[in-house]
Amino acid sequence: MNNFPMTNTPEKLESLREEIRQHNYRYHVLDAPIISDGEYDRLLNELKAIEAEHPEWITPDSPTQRAGAPPADKFDKVRHPASILSLANAFGADDAFAWFERIRKLDERVADAQFTVEPKIDGLTVVLHYRDGVFVQGATRGDGVIGEDITANLRTIKAIPLRIPVAEKREMSKEKVESRQTSLFGEDAPSLVSHNSVPNYLVVRGEVFITHKDFQALNERLSDAGEKTYLNPRNTAAGALRQLDSSITAQRPLTLLVYQIVTAEGGEVPTSQWERLNYLRELGFPVTKDARRFDNIDEIVTYCENWESQRDQLPYEADGIVIKLDDLELSDSLGIVGKDPRGATAYKFPSLEVTTTINDIQVEVGRTGVLTPKAILEPVEINGVIVRHATLHNFDFIAEKDIRIGDRVLVKRAGEVIPYIIASITETRTGQERPYTPPSSCPACEQPVEHVEGEVAWYCVNAACPAQRIRNIEHYVSRTAMDIVGMGGKIVEQLVSEGLLSDVADLYTLEKDDLLALEGFKDKKADNLLSAIAASKEQSLARLLTGLGIRGVGETMAADLTNHFADLDALAAATQNDLENIEGIGPNIAAAIVDWFLLPFNQQLLSKLRDAGVNPSSQLSVNSNQGAGVLDGLTFVITGTLPSMSRDEAKAFIQSHGGKVTGSVSSKTDYLLAGEKAGSKLTKAESLGIKIVSEEELKEMVA
Ligand code: IVH
Repeated sequence: MNNFPMTNTPEKLESLREEIRQHNYRYHVLDAPIISDGEYDRLLNELKAIEAEHPEWITPDSPTQRAGAPPADKFDKVRHPASILSLANAFGADDAFAWFERIRKLDERVADAQFTVEPKIDGLTVVLHYRDGVFVQGATRGDGVIGEDITANLRTIKAIPLRIPVAEKREMSKEKVESRQTSLFGEDAPSLVSHNSVPNYLVVRGEVFITHKDFQALNERLSDAGEKTYLNPRNTAAGALRQLDSSITAQRPLTLLVYQIVTAEGGEVPTSQWERLNYLRELGFPVTKDARRFDNIDEIVTYCENWESQRDQLPYEADGIVIKLDDLELSDSLGIVGKDPRGATAYKFPSLEVTTTINDIQVEVGRTGVLTPKAILEPVEINGVIVRHATLHNFDFIAEKDIRIGDRVLVKRAGEVIPYIIASITETRTGQERPYTPPSSCPACEQPVEHVEGEVAWYCVNAACPAQRIRNIEHYVSRTAMDIVGMGGKIVEQLVSEGLLSDVADLYTLEKDDLLALEGFKDKKADNLLSAIAASKEQSLARLLTGLGIRGVGETMAADLTNHFADLDALAAATQNDLENIEGIGPNIAAAIVDWFLLPFNQQLLSKLRDAGVNPSSQLSVNSNQGAGVLDGLTFVITGTLPSMSRDEAKAFIQSHGGKVTGSVSSKTDYLLAGEKAGSKLTKAESLGIKIVSEEELKEMVA
């Protein structure tokens, strides 16, 4: 990127770091990035390159220092600066009122006091230490007095600031912070925190967790790759935090929310919980946006009851609401019972676990051929939803947990995550329960199933298996991939069984009569579906890549790949090595990608797609030059031999000025860049009246 080498200085380096911190903060804390992932990667790579040349300039708060500590053989112990207290529980409204009455009797000021309420996140407590604004240590809760030093693991969590305040350039994010926080901070938001007023020693407490969405995506990725899936978000987060090798922690989608100041030395901090939350956010910590302040216990209880029925809408698992006296001096003065401060209580939601019976175990065939067992349950209600099925993960899980058909089981449903079985209740067995034997053939095509050494999954390896075909096509048309609205699972099944679809490229040769022959299809519905299919040709490269269903390439990975490859041809040409050099791609995924493109079946599929007009290119450089390039919004096609540039160079040149390069000439093409021996593209461009430019003219355009 850097055409003009500049002299690097520690100052320049610090300003680059600060820029990266800002983007990191926007992405991981505010959830409002303003640059593409590709551009972020380029900034980080630039920083890495400079630090590699000048290791003496590396600081512990550099964004490059999030991973890379050598694996440890055990965790050191850390004594917490103040005991990490827990909370007494209130089960329901009566308990909450009783708590309020108890503390009102202890101190009359409670009657008129304010309370801050926050979701009680079901994660793992961590304690973070900052000295002179730099993250220096992080520990688990342990027994509340002594925890374990998991600093290296915590560093990998991008939501944890390595330096506070994250930003002096608050203007950049202020607007967003305020728009997200109007309800939280109201009109009287405290002024922004400056470097000088931050305590030299600040210890905060928060909760590390995995969101429902990230958990689901993680499991889908593992399942596609034939690996063992995780049982639930909390255990996954706990396991990741206690990894001795922080590079493994770095691969788990951990995040955190901070809610308490444990210690502050050498600086003033607010004395109300509400203002502390505000203050913590101003320092750059992630803080819940679902906190509220009340001055009346009736309203609090109503609020808790409302949350109870809507808990599924929180992006993470919450097992209650924490009610805290807002005046922390008043709260402290009430003292502690055991390990529980009197000034706060946890209004607990009812458990999401119920018991029911397994009536049967069935097997589903996924799009990669993975067989997944699922339990057919005696229907049971969990938090307002009737649950009929639960995942059993894989056959090993059934064997290890000795789950039998007819067993009473403990089932949990939380958020949007598929309900899962926690355990069989063996005490109530009658002897009628039947142990389960995994099938030796695919339930859909009856071909023998196979097991790959080292993987937990069993596969149907029949490429013609109708279940796999259907799942593949369903995946291709799904909302996160090519988003072909109206093409539901039922229709795909019908088309496959009629022999009209054998792969996704066949979608583009469907004719109206094909659809009209299907059950429930009338004129309009057929037209709509055909135009949705046609519209999908314009979908992005990232969506197409997601839709192809390459093992290990989900939505995020696909988007990452398009930051490195301009189109499918470029990706197909990538070697295992090229791919492994990209951050986040390990040898397994790299191999899966290379193998996918080598399969004749897939090569044929790609050429069928290309013939159908599905051949998008990435916005590689367009994104990173938003609004900056003189070729913004212009689409080029390159043909023939250029005098001084290779085609790839010409492409990069155009993209670096904001233009887009596509493979074939159409009415959407703005310019044909033509060199010697230009062939059919030139004729086509001429016939469409498209402007034709030489390399020299192109250079003049940008000069
Ligand atoms: S306050 C003295 N606030 O719930 C106050 N705890 O203590 C102690 N938890 O494992 C905790 N979200 O880690 C507080 N917003 C929140 C919380 C929260 C989750 C956890 C905490 C502890 C448990 C009970």
